Amino acid sequence: MDIRLLRSSDIPHVQHANITNLPENYFMKYYLYHALSWPQLSYVAVDISRPQKSPYDYPRIVGYVLAKMDEDPPDGVQHGHITSLSVMRTHRRLGIAEKLMRQSQRAMVETFSAQYVSLHVRVSNNAALRLYRDTLGFQNESVEAKYYADGEDAYSMKLNLSEIREQTAEEDLLLEQDEGGPVGSLGSAEGVEEKEKKRKVKMGRGLGVGELVERNESQK
Ligand code: ACO
Repeated sequence: MDIRLLRSSDIPHVQHANITNLPENYFMKYYLYHALSWPQLSYVAVDISRPQKSPYDYPRIVGYVLAKMDEDPPDGVQHGHITSLSVMRTHRRLGIAEKLMRQSQRAMVETFSAQYVSLHVRVSNNAALRLYRDTLGFQNESVEAKYYADGEDAYSMKLNLSEIREQTAEEDLLLEQDEGGPVGSLGSAEGVEEKEKKRKVKMGRGLGVGELVERNESQK
Protein backbone atom coordinates (compact mmCIF):
# COMPACT_ATOMS: atom_id res chain seq x y z
CA MET A 1 0.00 0.00 0.00
CA ASP A 2 1.31 3.40 -0.96
CA ILE A 3 0.03 6.51 0.82
CA ARG A 4 0.88 9.53 -1.31
CA LEU A 5 -0.29 13.04 -2.12
CA LEU A 6 -3.39 13.44 -4.28
CA ARG A 7 -2.61 14.32 -7.90
CA SER A 8 -5.08 15.98 -10.24
CA SER A 9 -5.09 12.82 -12.39
CA ASP A 10 -6.36 10.83 -9.35
CA ILE A 11 -9.51 12.90 -9.05
CA PRO A 12 -11.89 10.74 -11.13
CA HIS A 13 -10.81 7.71 -9.08
CA VAL A 14 -11.24 9.56 -5.79
CA GLN A 15 -14.65 10.71 -6.95
CA HIS A 16 -15.52 7.09 -7.72
CA ALA A 17 -14.43 5.99 -4.23
CA ASN A 18 -16.44 8.82 -2.69
CA ILE A 19 -19.62 7.91 -4.61
CA THR A 20 -19.16 4.25 -3.65
CA ASN A 21 -18.63 4.92 0.06
CA LEU A 22 -20.57 8.03 1.04
CA PRO A 23 -23.86 9.83 0.34
CA GLU A 24 -22.08 13.23 0.43
CA ASN A 25 -20.79 13.70 -3.12
CA TYR A 26 -19.17 16.65 -4.87
CA PHE A 27 -18.66 18.10 -8.33
CA MET A 28 -15.30 17.42 -9.99
CA LYS A 29 -14.38 21.08 -9.61
CA TYR A 30 -14.64 20.86 -5.83
CA TYR A 31 -11.97 18.14 -5.79
CA LEU A 32 -9.85 20.20 -8.15
CA TYR A 33 -10.28 23.25 -5.91
CA HIS A 34 -8.81 21.24 -3.01
CA ALA A 35 -5.97 19.82 -5.12
CA LEU A 36 -4.98 23.21 -6.52
CA SER A 37 -5.49 25.36 -3.42
CA TRP A 38 -3.99 23.06 -0.78
CA PRO A 39 -1.94 20.46 -2.72
CA GLN A 40 -0.13 19.45 0.48
CA LEU A 41 -3.20 18.31 2.43
CA SER A 42 -5.06 15.61 0.48
CA TYR A 43 -3.76 12.04 0.24
CA VAL A 44 -4.67 8.80 -1.48
CA ALA A 45 -4.01 5.16 -0.59
CA VAL A 46 -2.99 3.20 -3.67
CA ASP A 47 -2.97 -0.58 -3.87
CA ILE A 48 0.37 -1.13 -5.58
CA SER A 49 0.21 -4.93 -5.21
CA ARG A 50 -1.97 -5.14 -8.32
CA PRO A 51 0.34 -5.63 -11.35
CA GLN A 52 0.15 -2.85 -13.95
CA LYS A 53 -0.89 -4.49 -17.23
CA SER A 54 -0.13 -1.49 -19.45
CA PRO A 55 1.11 2.10 -19.04
CA TYR A 56 -2.55 3.16 -19.23
CA ASP A 57 -3.64 0.82 -16.45
CA TYR A 58 -4.31 3.21 -13.59
CA PRO A 59 -3.28 2.14 -10.07
CA ARG A 60 -6.24 1.31 -7.83
CA ILE A 61 -7.14 4.00 -5.34
CA VAL A 62 -8.60 2.32 -2.25
CA GLY A 63 -8.85 5.29 0.08
CA TYR A 64 -8.54 9.04 0.21
CA VAL A 65 -8.65 12.02 2.50
CA LEU A 66 -9.77 15.32 1.03
CA ALA A 67 -8.68 18.21 3.21
CA LYS A 68 -8.45 22.00 3.18
CA MET A 69 -7.64 25.02 5.31
CA ASP A 70 -10.47 27.22 6.50
CA GLU A 71 -10.06 30.27 4.26
CA ASP A 72 -11.86 32.70 6.52
CA PRO A 73 -11.75 31.26 10.05
CA PRO A 74 -14.51 32.87 12.15
CA ASP A 75 -12.29 32.62 15.27
CA GLY A 76 -9.29 34.00 13.37
CA VAL A 77 -7.29 30.85 14.20
CA GLN A 78 -5.58 29.03 11.32
CA HIS A 79 -7.09 25.58 11.09
CA GLY A 80 -7.59 22.68 8.74
CA HIS A 81 -10.81 20.91 7.81
CA ILE A 82 -11.44 17.34 6.68
CA THR A 83 -13.92 17.56 3.81
CA SER A 84 -14.17 13.84 3.15
CA LEU A 85 -12.53 10.55 4.10
CA SER A 86 -13.28 7.04 2.94
CA VAL A 87 -11.73 3.63 2.40
CA MET A 88 -13.09 0.94 0.07
CA ARG A 89 -14.87 -1.91 1.88
CA THR A 90 -12.28 -4.43 0.64
CA HIS A 91 -9.50 -2.54 2.42
CA ARG A 92 -11.05 -1.51 5.73
CA ARG A 93 -9.64 -2.17 9.23
CA LEU A 94 -6.07 -2.13 7.92
CA GLY A 95 -5.22 1.23 9.45
CA ILE A 96 -5.49 3.08 6.11
CA ALA A 97 -7.89 5.79 7.28
CA GLU A 98 -5.80 6.44 10.38
CA LYS A 99 -2.65 6.84 8.24
CA LEU A 100 -4.37 9.15 5.75
CA MET A 101 -5.66 11.34 8.58
CA ARG A 102 -2.31 11.53 10.37
CA GLN A 103 -0.49 12.46 7.13
CA SER A 104 -2.94 15.25 6.42
CA GLN A 105 -2.86 16.58 10.00
CA ARG A 106 0.94 16.73 9.93
CA ALA A 107 0.92 18.56 6.61
CA MET A 108 -1.56 21.10 8.04
CA VAL A 109 0.92 21.90 10.80
CA GLU A 110 4.08 21.82 8.68
CA THR A 111 2.71 23.82 5.77
CA PHE A 112 0.11 26.14 7.28
CA SER A 113 0.92 26.18 11.03
CA ALA A 114 -2.61 24.94 11.70
CA GLN A 115 -3.67 25.07 15.35
CA TYR A 116 -6.46 22.52 15.05
CA VAL A 117 -8.43 20.45 12.56
CA SER A 118 -12.21 20.22 12.35
CA LEU A 119 -14.74 17.95 10.66
CA HIS A 120 -18.40 16.91 10.55
CA VAL A 121 -19.61 13.37 10.92
CA ARG A 122 -23.08 11.77 11.00
CA VAL A 123 -24.21 11.00 14.54
CA SER A 124 -25.01 7.43 13.38
CA ASN A 125 -21.57 6.78 11.81
CA ASN A 126 -20.11 4.54 14.52
CA ALA A 127 -17.04 3.39 12.56
CA ALA A 128 -15.95 6.94 11.76
CA LEU A 129 -16.77 8.14 15.30
CA ARG A 130 -14.58 5.40 16.77
CA LEU A 131 -11.76 6.39 14.43
CA TYR A 132 -12.01 10.11 15.14
CA ARG A 133 -12.70 9.97 18.88
CA ASP A 134 -10.88 6.87 20.14
CA THR A 135 -8.01 6.46 17.69
CA LEU A 136 -7.20 10.05 16.74
CA GLY A 137 -8.41 11.93 19.84
CA PHE A 138 -11.00 14.30 18.29
CA GLN A 139 -13.53 15.85 20.66
CA ASN A 140 -17.20 16.69 20.11
CA GLU A 141 -17.69 20.43 19.90
CA SER A 142 -21.41 20.54 19.21
CA VAL A 143 -24.31 18.85 17.40
CA GLU A 144 -25.41 20.57 14.21
CA ALA A 145 -29.08 19.76 13.73
CA LYS A 146 -30.16 18.55 10.27
CA TYR A 147 -26.68 19.20 8.88
CA TYR A 148 -27.08 16.55 6.17
CA ALA A 149 -29.44 16.71 3.18
CA ASP A 150 -31.51 13.77 4.50
CA GLY A 151 -32.07 15.57 7.83
CA GLU A 152 -29.52 13.68 9.95
CA ASP A 153 -27.59 15.63 12.61
CA ALA A 154 -23.81 15.98 12.56
CA TYR A 155 -21.25 16.08 15.31
CA SER A 156 -18.91 18.97 14.78
CA MET A 157 -15.53 17.65 15.98
CA LYS A 158 -12.13 19.20 16.62
CA LEU A 159 -8.61 17.97 17.29
CA ASN A 160 -5.98 20.26 18.77
CA LEU A 161 -2.77 19.83 16.77
CA SER A 162 -0.42 20.95 19.58
CA GLU A 163 1.10 17.46 19.91
CA ILE A 164 2.12 17.44 16.23
CA ARG A 165 3.39 21.03 16.53
CA GLU A 166 5.64 20.03 19.45
CA GLN A 167 6.85 16.97 17.54
CA THR A 168 7.76 18.94 14.42
CA ALA A 169 9.46 21.66 16.53
CA GLU A 170 11.60 18.99 18.20
CA GLU A 171 12.46 17.48 14.81
CA ASP A 172 13.46 20.91 13.48
CA LEU A 173 15.69 21.45 16.52
CA LEU A 174 17.38 18.06 16.04
CA LEU A 175 17.91 18.84 12.37
CA GLU A 176 19.52 22.20 13.22
CA GLN A 177 21.82 20.53 15.77
CA ASP A 178 22.70 17.86 13.22
CA GLU A 179 23.82 20.39 10.66
CA GLY A 180 27.64 20.46 10.64
CA GLY A 181 29.95 23.30 9.61
CA PRO A 182 29.57 25.41 6.48
CA VAL A 183 29.08 23.40 3.31
CA GLY A 184 29.57 24.93 -0.14
CA SER A 185 28.90 28.57 -0.97
CA LEU A 186 25.59 28.67 1.02
CA GLY A 187 27.46 27.84 4.24
CA SER A 188 30.28 30.31 3.61
CA ALA A 189 30.37 33.97 4.69
CA GLU A 190 29.24 35.10 1.21
CA GLY A 191 26.43 32.58 1.33
CA VAL A 192 25.25 33.93 4.68
CA GLU A 193 25.49 37.49 3.36
CA GLU A 194 23.47 36.46 0.32
CA LYS A 195 20.86 34.81 2.58
CA GLU A 196 20.56 37.98 4.67
CA LYS A 197 19.98 40.03 1.53
CA LYS A 198 16.81 38.03 0.77
CA ARG A 199 13.65 40.06 1.21
CA LYS A 200 10.34 38.80 2.57
CA VAL A 201 7.56 39.13 0.02
CA LYS A 202 3.84 39.01 0.62
CA MET A 203 2.04 35.97 -0.74
CA GLY A 204 -1.54 34.81 -1.12
CA ARG A 205 -3.98 36.41 1.33
CA GLY A 206 -1.41 38.90 2.59
CA LEU A 207 -1.21 40.35 -0.90
CA GLY A 208 -4.77 41.68 -0.81
CA VAL A 209 -7.39 41.06 -3.44
CA GLY A 210 -6.50 44.19 -5.43
CA GLU A 211 -3.19 42.66 -6.49
CA LEU A 212 -4.81 39.43 -7.55
CA VAL A 213 -7.44 40.73 -9.95
CA GLU A 214 -6.61 40.75 -13.62
CA ARG A 215 -5.34 44.14 -14.78
CA ASN A 216 -6.70 45.93 -17.78
CA GLU A 217 -3.43 46.41 -19.64
CA SER A 218 -5.09 48.57 -22.34
CA GLN A 219 -5.53 51.43 -19.82
CA LYS A 220 -1.83 52.06 -19.14
N1 ACO B 1 -16.14 -0.35 13.83
C1 ACO B 1 -15.57 0.08 14.97
N2 ACO B 1 -14.39 0.79 14.99
C2 ACO B 1 -13.83 1.08 13.81
C3 ACO B 1 -14.39 0.67 12.57
C4 ACO B 1 -15.59 -0.09 12.62
N3 ACO B 1 -16.21 -0.54 11.52
N4 ACO B 1 -13.62 1.09 11.57
C5 ACO B 1 -12.58 1.77 12.13
N5 ACO B 1 -12.71 1.76 13.48
C6 ACO B 1 -11.82 2.39 14.47
C7 ACO B 1 -11.06 1.31 15.22
O1 ACO B 1 -10.73 1.81 16.49
C8 ACO B 1 -9.83 1.16 14.35
O2 ACO B 1 -8.73 0.61 15.03
P1 ACO B 1 -8.59 -1.03 15.12
O3 ACO B 1 -8.81 -1.56 13.75
O4 ACO B 1 -7.17 -1.20 15.61
O5 ACO B 1 -9.63 -1.44 16.10
C9 ACO B 1 -9.53 2.58 13.99
O6 ACO B 1 -10.82 3.17 13.82
C10 ACO B 1 -8.66 2.75 12.74
O7 ACO B 1 -9.33 2.12 11.68
P2 ACO B 1 -8.79 2.15 10.17
O8 ACO B 1 -8.43 0.75 9.79
O9 ACO B 1 -7.74 3.19 10.03
O10 ACO B 1 -10.11 2.61 9.45
P3 ACO B 1 -10.54 2.21 7.95
O11 ACO B 1 -9.37 2.29 7.03
O12 ACO B 1 -11.26 0.93 7.98
O13 ACO B 1 -11.54 3.39 7.58
C11 ACO B 1 -13.61 4.58 7.68
C12 ACO B 1 -12.53 3.86 8.49
C13 ACO B 1 -12.98 5.69 6.85
C14 ACO B 1 -14.62 5.20 8.64
C15 ACO B 1 -14.30 3.52 6.76
O14 ACO B 1 -15.05 2.66 7.54
C16 ACO B 1 -15.18 4.13 5.67
O15 ACO B 1 -14.71 4.46 4.60
N6 ACO B 1 -16.49 4.25 5.95
C17 ACO B 1 -17.45 4.78 4.99
C18 ACO B 1 -17.17 6.25 4.69
C19 ACO B 1 -17.21 7.10 5.95
O16 ACO B 1 -18.02 6.90 6.84
N7 ACO B 1 -16.31 8.10 6.01
C20 ACO B 1 -16.24 9.09 7.10
C21 ACO B 1 -17.29 10.14 6.90
S1 ACO B 1 -16.98 11.61 7.87
C22 ACO B 1 -16.01 12.59 6.87
O17 ACO B 1 -15.77 12.28 5.74
C23 ACO B 1 -15.39 13.87 7.46
